[in-house]
Amino acid sequence: MDTRVIQLEPGNAKSTALYRDVARLLSEGRLVALPTETVYGLAADALNEAAVAEIFAVKDRPRFDPLICHLPDARSIETIAEIPADVHGLVNKLAENFWPGPMTLILPRKSCVPDIVTSGLPTVACRVPQHEVMRGVAKALGHPIAAPSANRFGHISPTSAAAVQKELGGRIPLIVDAGACSEGLESTILRPCLDEKGKPAVEILRQGPVTVEQIRTVCRVLKPVREAQKNPVAPGQLPSHYAPAKPLSLHDPKKLFTPQPGVRYGLISYRGDSPLAKQENWQNITALSPGSGRLAEAAVRLFAVMRAMDEREDIDRIIAEELPETGLGRAMMDRLRRAAAANTLPD
Ligand code: TXA
Ligand code: MG
Repeated sequence: MDTRVIQLEPGNAKSTALYRDVARLLSEGRLVALPTETVYGLAADALNEAAVAEIFAVKDRPRFDPLICHLPDARSIETIAEIPADVHGLVNKLAENFWPGPMTLILPRKSCVPDIVTSGLPTVACRVPQHEVMRGVAKALGHPIAAPSANRFGHISPTSAAAVQKELGGRIPLIVDAGACSEGLESTILRPCLDEKGKPAVEILRQGPVTVEQIRTVCRVLKPVREAQKNPVAPGQLPSHYAPAKPLSLHDPKKLFTPQPGVRYGLISYRGDSPLAKQENWQNITALSPGSGRLAEAAVRLFAVMRAMDEREDIDRIIAEELPETGLGRAMMDRLRRAAAANTLPD
């Protein structure tokens, strides 16, 4: 199959017509890769079971890993989710603070949502993205859009149309290219619940651009449940995920890095000026936020840098520096640990 790429400046006068065209393709059961502010998504009409089944086939994704439904506005979540009365106020507050934006809420589902979308779970993942292309298409379609990240299962999520082309080119009819994603990390996934005193709170199922610090301004954050690995409530939480093809290791700053002879290493550094970066064994050093060290800049670039390192022919192994674990640093360290977990070679 030929994969067509359409370039689009958001806000362009032609965009409304394009949203209608894309919505028509989706309503015919086709798949389209669409930009969001986090990563590019592989979109299908969430209420069309055959189209959703095609998502799993195209991504080689196991059917037990449920999909996020994208909606044009917060009001529309009631078309697919039943918001329990005891967390209604909390859901409204989270929506006011973080939607449209990179937050996904897990809520009890309505029966219109096909089992294949939720992998048979009694809940559905709801997200109102910031990106006007995904929202515009969802509005034109009039149905929720099921969209996982537009990569093959377990790989690095794409933050540009070129990355989607490398992952899924030849497997899908259309990619809408609206440039690089402005956040660069997948949405924060929250499950509204009640704490031991019966007060509304959330559990974080996946760290992301909406940080713990930000969420705490709205409600209590309960300790993440580690049962995820036995029985994945959010299979993006599988220990090995987001992985480059080359082995990636996280450098323990307490240890000295000793290269193995004959192995060519690339370093993903935070600012490019650490003692590790000053060692002489690197074939390439890429700084995520050169000089100043801004976490937001590092987050936007992380997946693109991992991909670029993976594609270099002069590098055998990737070493990543640890990042400060506050704010966005938590989500980045989460992704790096999972990428490293896919690495079976000894350190
Ligand atoms: O930023 C994002 O969230 C991107 C863009 C495209 O919106 N999407 C994304 O989708 O990252 P995906 O499929 O790569 O990751 C979705 C995660 C998976 O880990 C899945 O297990 C979890 O959401 N999930 C979906 N439905 C769930 C549910 N009912 N309960 C718990 N976790 C759920
Ligand atoms: Mg994904």
